[in-house]
Amino acid sequence: MIAITGATGHLGRATLNALSSKVPANQLIALVRDPQKATDLSAQGVQVRQGDYNDPAALQAAFQGAEKVLLISGDDLENRLQQHKNVIDAAKEAGVRHVLYTSVTNPSADSHFGASPSHVATEAYLKESSLTYTMLRNTLYLDILPMMIGDNALPSGQLYAAAGDGKVSYALRQDLAEATAAILATPGHDNQTYDLAPAPAYSFQDIAATLREVAGQPVQYVPISPEALAAGMREHHVPEPVVTMMVGLSKAMAADEFNLSSPTLEELLGRRPTDLKTFLAGVYGK
Ligand SMILES: NC(=O)c1ccc[n+]([C@@H]2O[C@H](COP(=O)([O-])OP(=O)(O)OC[C@H]3O[C@@H](n4cnc5c(N)ncnc54)[C@H](OP(=O)(O)O)[C@@H]3O)[C@@H](O)[C@H]2O)c1
Repeated sequence: MIAITGATGHLGRATLNALSSKVPANQLIALVRDPQKATDLSAQGVQVRQGDYNDPAALQAAFQGAEKVLLISGDDLENRLQQHKNVIDAAKEAGVRHVLYTSVTNPSADSHFGASPSHVATEAYLKESSLTYTMLRNTLYLDILPMMIGDNALPSGQLYAAAGDGKVSYALRQDLAEATAAILATPGHDNQTYDLAPAPAYSFQDIAATLREVAGQPVQYVPISPEALAAGMREHHVPEPVVTMMVGLSKAMAADEFNLSSPTLEELLGRRPTDLKTFLAGVYGK
C-alpha cells in the first residue's frame, strides 16, 4: 500500500488523483488532519486515516500496512523539521520500506530561502535512517506566480518584484503531482534524488513579456530592492513571518538558486512540462 501525507493539500490531493488511475483505491492511504475534508476520498475507496505530524503514535497507526510513504513537507517553518522526523520515525516503526520526500531545488543550509535548511536536514535524516528514499527536489510552482505578480500589475502596467535578473525553473504543481504518481507507481526509484526543475528558466523580465503577450496589455518589470519589498508588504500589514519568507524567497530567486533546467521532470512525465506562457494564458489570457 502507498500512504500519501498532506492528502487534503494541493500537491497531495493531485498526486492521489493521478495515482488513482494507476493503483486500486483500496491500496491507497490518505493521511489527513481532518477526515471531514476527505469524505470524497473515502467514497472512492481510499483508506482515509487521521494523523498529525506532531503526533507520533497516530502517524505510526496510520502507516500500518504501507510499503511506501510520500512525505509532503509541512508548512510550519518553525516546527517542521521535528514534524518530518516524526513522520520518518513513525514510518520506520510501522514497517514501511520506502519514504519519498518533497524537498526543494538546490537545498542548502546557506540558502536565502528560509525553508531550505529544514529540507537539507530532513534529507540528511531520511538518508541516515534505514529506509530507502527518493528525494523529490521540487522547484517553485508556476501556481505561486499570480501571488507574486499581485492584483495591480495589469491595471498599473508595472510589475514590481525583488528578484533582480534571476531565473527560475518553474513547474506546474499538477505536473509535479503526475511525476510523483509515476514514481510511486513504478519500481526503480530507491535511493534516487530527482531535480524536478525543468527548462527553460524564466526571469521577471520574461514574466512581464509573457504577460504582455497573453493579456494584450503593457506591463513592465520594475525591479525593486528586498528592503523596498519588505516595506511595501509591511505597509499592507502583511505578517512579519510572511515578509521574511517573501524577502528570502526573492533573494534566492535573484541569486539563481532555483535556476536548474533539469530534464528529469520531462522524462518522468513523458511529455513537455507545462510552460510559463501556457500557465499565464490560463490565468490572464483574454
Ligand atoms: N514549491 C513551491 O512553490 C511551494 C509553494 C508552497 C509550498 N510548498 C511546500 O510544498 C508543500 C506541499 O505544497 P502544497 O501546495 O500541497 O501545500 P498545501 O496545499 O498547503 O498542503 C500542505 C499539506 O500539508 C499538511 N500539513 C501541514 N502541517 C501538517 C501537520 N502538522 N500534520 C499533518 N499534515 C500537515 C496540510 O494539511 P491540511 O490539509 O490539514 O491543512 C496540507 O494537506 C507545502 O506544505 C510546502 O512545504 C512548495
